[in-house]
Amino acid sequence: MKKILVTGANGQLGSELAVLSSKYTQYKWVFADRTQVTLDDLGILKIQLNQIQPDVIFNCGAYTAVDKAETEKEKAFAINNLAVELIAKYTRENNTKLIHISTDYVFDGTSAIALDEDEETNPINIYGASKRAGEIACLKENPDSIIIRTSWVYSKFGNNFVKTMQRLMQEREVINVVNDQIGSPTYAADLAQAMMAILESPEWISGIYNYSNEGEISWYEFALRIKELGGYICNIGGIPSGSYPTPAKRPKFSLLDKKKIKDIYNLNIPNYKESLKKMFL
Ligand SMILES: NC(=O)c1ccc[n+]([C@@H]2O[C@H](COP(=O)([O-])OP(=O)(O)OC[C@H]3O[C@@H](n4cnc5c(N)ncnc54)[C@H](OP(=O)(O)O)[C@@H]3O)[C@@H](O)[C@H]2O)c1
Repeated sequence: MKKILVTGANGQLGSELAVLSSKYTQYKWVFADRTQVTLDDLGILKIQLNQIQPDVIFNCGAYTAVDKAETEKEKAFAINNLAVELIAKYTRENNTKLIHISTDYVFDGTSAIALDEDEETNPINIYGASKRAGEIACLKENPDSIIIRTSWVYSKFGNNFVKTMQRLMQEREVINVVNDQIGSPTYAADLAQAMMAILESPEWISGIYNYSNEGEISWYEFALRIKELGGYICNIGGIPSGSYPTPAKRPKFSLLDKKKIKDIYNLNIPNYKESLKKMFL
């Protein structure tokens, strides 16, 4: 029985994979939290991987505190770059399949058209730089690995924009949301399914793939859709990014082109409007 190791098991994506795993009982699943697979201590990480001996690794663990990364550069790089490098090396040496997850923040947001996998990167913040370094290390140490870049991830598990909006829209009469950052949200359960589709496919074609839900929206439009589905009465205002300063810069435009993953893995990607409904079930 093949063993799949999921790192960062208590995160949004890790938790969705745990839900999905009940449909894939032909695998032995190992869901590892930070004590079982420790991404900020390479010595311990190496021992843990050697003990678990997975056939497949879904590397869902990451340093994801985008704003905090601006002042915790070393920690962000330790988890998003050095640990990825070690994991990729382990997978090459042990003939283990690796699906690693990356981000739209490897781009600077100056494009006006959907970004494909070959688009030049230029990370917009420290978190993005640490994730880009991880991508490079991953493909260098194990050229047979698959990296999925995703954006605006949300889930019923963990903290995310949708859950924050659901709470604020019940608490407040007015909320302002930035309307000049364009992208597409990703329902983590959909991404989890895409990862399984890749693993189950007879094709394993290494390299970088983009994945998000279909649709092209701003955070403001996303908030309007959340309001509509939740039936909230709160007023939503659109504001420019400049009126909502954050320690880390965000890309103005980070829509990912999904043609490659759709063509190679024959994926039918849901529109964000469809997937968002599941947050209200
Ligand atoms: N969230 C987004 O909007 C977004 C957008 C684009 C790309 N991504 C990428 O998508 C992937 C999944 O993200 P997500 O939203 O599921 O992230 P998440 O909910 O923040 O989960 C990250 C997981 O990593 C774990 N982790 C953090 N530091 C660790 C350490 N030192 N050792 C071991 N585990 C550690 C966390 O453990 P604890 O639970 O113990 O904290 C958490 O379970 C990541 O690679 C992320 O960079 C996310």
